[in-house]
Amino acid sequence: MAVDVQFGGADLARLAPNPYALGMEGSDILAIAAQINALKATGAQVANFTIGDFDPKLFPIPEALAEAVSEELAAGQTNYPPAVGLPELRKAISGFYAERLGFRWPAESILVGSGARPPIYAAFRTIVAPGDQILFPTPTWNCRYYVYLSQGVAVPVVTRPETGFMPTLADLAPHLATARVLYLNSPLNPCGTVIQAELLREICLAIVAENRRRADLGERPLLVIYDMVYWQLTFGAEHVTPVGLVPEMAPYTLLIDAISKWWAATGLRVGWAAVPPTLFGPMQSLIGHIGAWAGRAEQRAVARLLAEPSRTAPFVAGMNASLSGRLTRLYDGFSAMSAEGLPVTAIPARGAIYLSVRFDLLGRRGIHTDEDLRARLLSEAGVGIVPFTAFGYPPGTGWVRFSVGAASDPDVDAALARIRRFLAG
Ligand SMILES: Cc1ncc(COP(=O)(O)O)c(C=O)c1O
Repeated sequence: MAVDVQFGGADLARLAPNPYALGMEGSDILAIAAQINALKATGAQVANFTIGDFDPKLFPIPEALAEAVSEELAAGQTNYPPAVGLPELRKAISGFYAERLGFRWPAESILVGSGARPPIYAAFRTIVAPGDQILFPTPTWNCRYYVYLSQGVAVPVVTRPETGFMPTLADLAPHLATARVLYLNSPLNPCGTVIQAELLREICLAIVAENRRRADLGERPLLVIYDMVYWQLTFGAEHVTPVGLVPEMAPYTLLIDAISKWWAATGLRVGWAAVPPTLFGPMQSLIGHIGAWAGRAEQRAVARLLAEPSRTAPFVAGMNASLSGRLTRLYDGFSAMSAEGLPVTAIPARGAIYLSVRFDLLGRRGIHTDEDLRARLLSEAGVGIVPFTAFGYPPGTGWVRFSVGAASDPDVDAALARIRRFLAG
C-alpha cells in the first residue's frame, strides 16, 4: 500500500529564499471560482458568472477543429514542433490577417505558443528592463502580474464608464514621455467593451510622435502590446488595431492573439504574437527554453482551418449570436431593474463574453466593500461575479464583471430573478 508523502513544516521563505518567488501572486479570480465550487458542492443553487472560460456543453469547439486535430493525431503528428511554431501555421496566420485585418504581417515574425499567455510573457520579458514603466489602463486582465514577472514598474491609469473603461489620449498623455510599454486590450476583459477607432488612432499618432522625439535623442521607443484575443467576438462594433489604423505603428506594435476565445478552445492551447522582426530572436529563445509551444497536431489543425476561413465563419457567427444574445438578455434585465428604481446599472456589451454591471449598494445594508458586495451576491442571490477590484480597479465603486461563457439563457433568467429579489429586499 502506498504511504502519503510527508514534507514536514519547512516554510516558504526557507525553501525559496528568493524575493522574486516570494512576491509572486496567484490570480484573485481563481480563488473566487474555488469558493463557488465549494458552495456548489454543498448543493446550493449558484449561477457562476465568474470564469473567463466556456462550458464545453454550451460552447463546444468547432466540429471541423475537433475532426482536424483527431486526423492529425491519427496521422502521427505527435513529435516536437519547431519552438516558434509550424511554418504552415505562421503562414496561415499571416494570410488570415491579410484577409481579415487588411495588413500582411510577415509569417517569419509570428511566434506561436501554448495559448496567448506564453507569448505575452515572452513579450514582457523581452522588451522590459527592470525598472521600466509599463502603462496600462484599469480595469484590465492580469497585466499587473506580467509587470511583476518582468520586474517593471506598474503605471496603472484608472478609466471611466463613460468611455467603456477604455483610456483616452488625455488619460495616457502624462505618462507617454516616460513609459516603455503600453498594454492595451480590446475587446476588453473585464468590461465587454471595444476601443473606438478614433480613440485608438489618436493614441497611436501620439505614440508615433513620441517615438520620433525619442529617436532624435537616441532613446528606446515606447512599444504597444495590443492584446486582441477576443477580436472575432465583437458585436455591433468594429475591431480596430494600431497597425490597421496607423501603419507607422508597425515597428512599435506586438499583437497578441489566440484561438482560445473565438473558437471556444481554451483547453487546446494555441496562441501567438505578431512582433517586429528585431524582437523575434530573443522571444523565440525564451519560448523554446520554457517549452511553451502549442501541440503539433493542434497547430496543424489550426493552420488548415485558418487557411480556409469559410469553414469556421459560420461557427464564429453562431458564437457571436449566442454570446451577444445572452449578454443582451442580462443587460436588458438590469436595465428593467434600473427603470424600476433598483440600484443597478450596466453598460451594453460590444465584444468578448463580459458585461460591466454596477451595484450601488456600498454603504447600505451592511455592505461596505466590493468584497462584501461579492460575498452577499453569492450567499443571498446565489450569483458568482468578480469585482473590478480583482482587475486592479480602485475599491469602493461597486463595478463587477459578469461572464456568460458558462451560463445558459435559463441560468441568466433565474439569476436575474434572484438578483431582483435581493435588490428589492
Ligand atoms: C485579455 C486576455 N488576454 C489573454 C488571455 C489568455 O489567453 P490564453 O488562454 O490563450 O492564454 C486572456 C484569458 O482570459 C484574456 O482575457
